[in-house]
Amino acid sequence: MLPRMSVFLDACRLKPTPYTPIWIMRQAGRYQPEYRAIRERVSFMELCRSPDLCSEVAVRSVEQLNVDAAIVFSDILVVLEPLGVGFEFTKDDGPKIGNPIRTAKDVDRVATEIDAKGSLDYVMQAIRTTKKDLHGRVPLLGFSGAPFTLASYMIEGGGSRDYHHTKAMMYGDEGAWHALMERISDAVTRYLLAQIDAGADALQLFDSWVGALGPADYIQYVQPHVKRIFEALGDRVPVIHFGAGNPALLPHVRRAGGHVIGIDHRANFMQAWTELDLAGPIAAQGNLDPSTLLAGQDVMLRKAEAMLSQVQNKRGHIFNLGHGVLPSAKVADVRALVDLVHEATQRTQPARPSALPPRG
Ligand code: CP3
Repeated sequence: MLPRMSVFLDACRLKPTPYTPIWIMRQAGRYQPEYRAIRERVSFMELCRSPDLCSEVAVRSVEQLNVDAAIVFSDILVVLEPLGVGFEFTKDDGPKIGNPIRTAKDVDRVATEIDAKGSLDYVMQAIRTTKKDLHGRVPLLGFSGAPFTLASYMIEGGGSRDYHHTKAMMYGDEGAWHALMERISDAVTRYLLAQIDAGADALQLFDSWVGALGPADYIQYVQPHVKRIFEALGDRVPVIHFGAGNPALLPHVRRAGGHVIGIDHRANFMQAWTELDLAGPIAAQGNLDPSTLLAGQDVMLRKAEAMLSQVQNKRGHIFNLGHGVLPSAKVADVRALVDLVHEATQRTQPARPSALPPRG
């Protein structure tokens, strides 16, 4: 049996693995009673700024779920602060940006350069502490939001259903849009390189809201910026590129870069993966619908089995949900999913050569 450390990383690099690795987006969070107990004592940002607590919640999800990778506990929005865009997490409405970026003049107040190691030192410390506490059991993922997703928060001032303000700037003032995307991309690059230096074994770039765009707009307004990030990261660690919301974007997301393409539950997983493979084999992550975890364990496990039987242990599959685990999911159900994936995908040894004497 290969040491556990390599299973996830080998799958990212399309190497054979003894079983299909699995981790769960947002595997540390409110669905866990222990997480909720910590959040009664400290605010979300206090948690993010405490390397010991970050490590505690990240390592707990590995122990509770037996997943094949840990993810550093933080949030995609923390990079907004060094960029000069203040935000807060409100109790009920999620993140709020008090002074959103709407005009070219607003873009001028976004930093052109960030000192990621200095200003986000608490994330680097969280990575180092979590790595130490994992004792090499499983690899540790670092992450960042992708430029479109971060720009959409800056411009909308919070979450959005339709991204009207974002698109108004994108279509209405291309110069301001690209200037903003360049500043964000440069910050994301520095931030991710700093995470590799701090010990991240792999990275995920979350383009959670890019599905608001169609392919032509993605190619024109987003892809060149993301491509530059991937070029700067090179091949030091595997990078998962998760572009959610619109399966038609996937080939273009792949062309922007990444060792693994994250596929959400709106896509037919094998159809999407087969199409991606046309440009050369690539690893794929996904894509059980997070809502199946709310439908009862039996239903959820049957849907996961159906998915696995379509994938047929294809090399380079990293099992995950199509998006983050929902706060109303049950820990025991998520654990049952992980156990199912591990058990159902154990690779059988290759058949021994026949002992019969050759004919004739
Ligand atoms: O194990 C992990 O993955 C935890 C680390 C993590 C968090 N956020 C913690 C968090 C990661 C990887 C994220 C990424 C993130 N944050 C994304 C991309 C992933 C995705 O789901 O698409 C996005 C869009 C955000 C922005 C964000 N952060 C929102 C909209 C919210 C509020 C609503 C929500 O989903 O909870 C957050 C807060 C947040 N980030 C929480 C956690 C555990 C909940 C905060 C709390 O404890 O109240």
